[in-house]
Amino acid sequence: MSLLDRTRAGFAAAFGTEPEGVVFAPGRVNLIGEHVDYNDGLVLPMPISVGTAVAWSHAPGDGIEAVALNLDGARDIFKPNEVQPHSPADWRSYLRGMAVILAERGIRPGGLRLAISGSIPRGAGLSSSASLCVALCRALIAADRTEPLSPRDIALAAQRAEHEWAGVKCGIMDQMAIAAGEPGHALLLDCRDLAIQHVRLPAKWAVVIVQSGVSRGLVDGHYNARRRECEAAAKALQVASLRDASIAMIAAAQFPDPVARRARHVVSEIERTRTAVAAIKAGALVTLGMVLRASHASLRDDFEVSVPAVDQLVDLMNAAIGPRGGARMTGGGFGGAVTAVLERAAVPTLRAALEQNFSAPDGSPLNLMIEGNGASPGCNL
Ligand code: GLA
Repeated sequence: MSLLDRTRAGFAAAFGTEPEGVVFAPGRVNLIGEHVDYNDGLVLPMPISVGTAVAWSHAPGDGIEAVALNLDGARDIFKPNEVQPHSPADWRSYLRGMAVILAERGIRPGGLRLAISGSIPRGAGLSSSASLCVALCRALIAADRTEPLSPRDIALAAQRAEHEWAGVKCGIMDQMAIAAGEPGHALLLDCRDLAIQHVRLPAKWAVVIVQSGVSRGLVDGHYNARRRECEAAAKALQVASLRDASIAMIAAAQFPDPVARRARHVVSEIERTRTAVAAIKAGALVTLGMVLRASHASLRDDFEVSVPAVDQLVDLMNAAIGPRGGARMTGGGFGGAVTAVLERAAVPTLRAALEQNFSAPDGSPLNLMIEGNGASPGCNL
């Protein structure tokens, strides 16, 4: 059964009536441009075929009753005009946040029943929370029958829910990739002005995502700390953000460790993103592979957001792929997934190498998803 059908059926089982509608928002994988969105940098994520579905129906009254089908039918019942943030932050934080934030935009959030279901592996760094927020946003807009918000406005609303209702000071990459991305295309996003460009991936290339078997867990503290380090470096350099810094400026500033390494990652990663876009447009897989591997090394050594199990998986995948492509960690880090770009024809060789040599630290079976231009929609649902 597809995710949408499962969600419809779950709604009917929970509320004893068919939903009026069901909406979907994908997850995202970031090809390159990691930890640069909150530095006004350039990023290159793409939407993936797994995501979040929300079935909805109107209900009497002005409250929201929502059921989380993946979480043993856990429920949240509240009135948007009197609700408080949920503590500790969980799926209810995003739900309550989106309802309140959209109410401020004139979208009536009450009188609704919702059933939520997702197919994004948990703790994978594939943006399950941004996917949830965008899916909720789409459901509330559909139920209100208002003019849809622009993808940019949806993304900004979803980011606010993350900042104000879950306490994660994330950038805008995930929400924009999910709200504005197109299947089979990477999204070149300039996080300074939110300008976007859809970059079509060559049909013969595949984007592969492999779960490391290390769940991302509670890493918001590390994430917010990295963000503060970057902002402190920008301030010391007297620039608005590290987007305006250069390697020479960082060297001249003689920052204490680890600030220089953090800033060097950001500046070099923005440059690698430019190189990656040019390589994709030119069909230059060898060049793309080189920048993907360099990105991983920088995240591991300078930004220090990788973990040994992820490094080992990246090394194994790079050895199996060879020069025609490359692999790197993707997302915020501290566990999660590894992504690779390679020739579609080479995927079976990569899979065989992983089946033979990779065992996930948590004992989970190999979870390899194939994305990219030509992946059939929903093939990983
Ligand atoms: C998380 C955040 C994003 C981005 C990435 C790292 O996914 O939500 O905004 O900062 O980490 O690139």
